[in-house]
Amino acid sequence: MKLLNIALDGPAAAGKSTIAKLVAGELSMIYVDTGAMYRAITYKYLQQNKIEDFNQLIDTTELSLTYDEIKGQRVILDNQDVTDYLRENNVTSHVSYVASKEPVRTFAVKKQQELAAKKGIVMDGRDIGTVVLPNADLKVYMIASVEERALRRQKDNEQRGIESNLEQLKKEIADRDHYDMNREISPLMKADDAITVDTTGKSIETVTAEILSLVKSLD
Ligand code: DC
Repeated sequence: MKLLNIALDGPAAAGKSTIAKLVAGELSMIYVDTGAMYRAITYKYLQQNKIEDFNQLIDTTELSLTYDEIKGQRVILDNQDVTDYLRENNVTSHVSYVASKEPVRTFAVKKQQELAAKKGIVMDGRDIGTVVLPNADLKVYMIASVEERALRRQKDNEQRGIESNLEQLKKEIADRDHYDMNREISPLMKADDAITVDTTGKSIETVTAEILSLVKSLD
């Protein structure tokens, strides 16, 4: 099969990473979680007591992605594997803000484009189809209702032993969507040539099959 790049965008907790991993596995492609890059930079911003000089923050940052057979993508920040800290609440609540800063975006987008240059990548994020890979072979814009996204996030948290309040999760998700969609630089939006996949009420298997059939239709 011809080497492809697939862009998967959409709002928070729409199921992008779950589906992207499965699609990448089925097609022997590499999954790149770009949100993890923004989360790693946010982790550093928090470690540095929220100093607002984003140029300085980026100039002193080394970031790379590695792949572990079992654990999948790992994020190496300044020679330290920080992957396990990236889903902490404090990171999640600051990441949209940090990701809106120009030096942060320029740095992350360049790295993402370098990763995708060899092709064979399924990349998920907010601006992949619009900015990072405008020539991707397939662009999917994945959505789901806020209610369903909050329920999924709650279930996810439960499995990790974290208790969470549904109303609060709904608010957090809606707030993050609002911020990501309204920032000045490369806001979250559907690329004109992206195909919308609404995952509300659909199983993971159904959505994965839907996307695999979109890939097949490229032949
Ligand atoms: O996919 P995620 O929840 O891990 O993403 C975390 C945040 O990072 C998200 O709220 C906005 C930002 N982000 C972005 O601005 N551009 C991307 N390509 C990926 C994520």
